[in-house]
Amino acid sequence: MLIDLFNETWKELEDGSKKHSHPFRTCTMATSEISGGIRQRTINFRGLTKKKTLLFYTDLRSIKIEQIKKNPKGSVLFYNHSVQLQIFLSGIIKIHFEDSLWNDHIVNIEGKSINDYNTQNAPGKPIKNPIAVTRTKDLNFAVLELIPDTIEYLKLRDEPSRIRAVFKLKDEEWEKTFLIP
Ligand SMILES: Cc1cc2nc3c(=O)[nH]c(=O)nc-3n(C[C@H](O)[C@H](O)[C@H](O)COP(=O)(O)O)c2cc1C
Repeated sequence: MLIDLFNETWKELEDGSKKHSHPFRTCTMATSEISGGIRQRTINFRGLTKKKTLLFYTDLRSIKIEQIKKNPKGSVLFYNHSVQLQIFLSGIIKIHFEDSLWNDHIVNIEGKSINDYNTQNAPGKPIKNPIAVTRTKDLNFAVLELIPDTIEYLKLRDEPSRIRAVFKLKDEEWEKTFLIP
């Protein structure tokens, strides 16, 4: 039974990374602010690797990069309303820039998605006119890789089908445990 929930988790994540209309196409990523608080933001889920790590794209100059450099611990939260499934994953976030994984993904940045990474000033900088954004030829593209060590599965349907489980990575094996929902 636990193995079914574990497999369902990875199947949903795989579908979310591939199908544009899947609710797991976006998720909420949380990182630690330099001041000690928590910062969350919506982010597109771009890929699931063979090593079961999750990939995201961002601007190398965004604030989350600074936060991850200081504290690489982070988490992401997905919700699929149609099956009432929430998946939480936490672990270490690795920043990829000009390495082989980055090379594999920068080729996907074309057309209007180029504009996500080419502003002259860093994202989050104050501007007077929101439509007068200067762009450059430089692509400040980075890939974020979440290497999860804890996953929580929660399906909150009517009793008795509420179900909650946690999967923890111990010595390269996923320990699986039911929790009170
Ligand atoms: C639907 C949606 C998808 C988004 N996808 C991304 C994304 O893939 N990468 C990203 O860096 N920001 C994405 N954003 C913007 C972030 O939510 C956030 O505003 C931005 O990354 C700056 O965050 P930071 O200042 O905490 O680094 C998205 C926002 C929305 C509403």
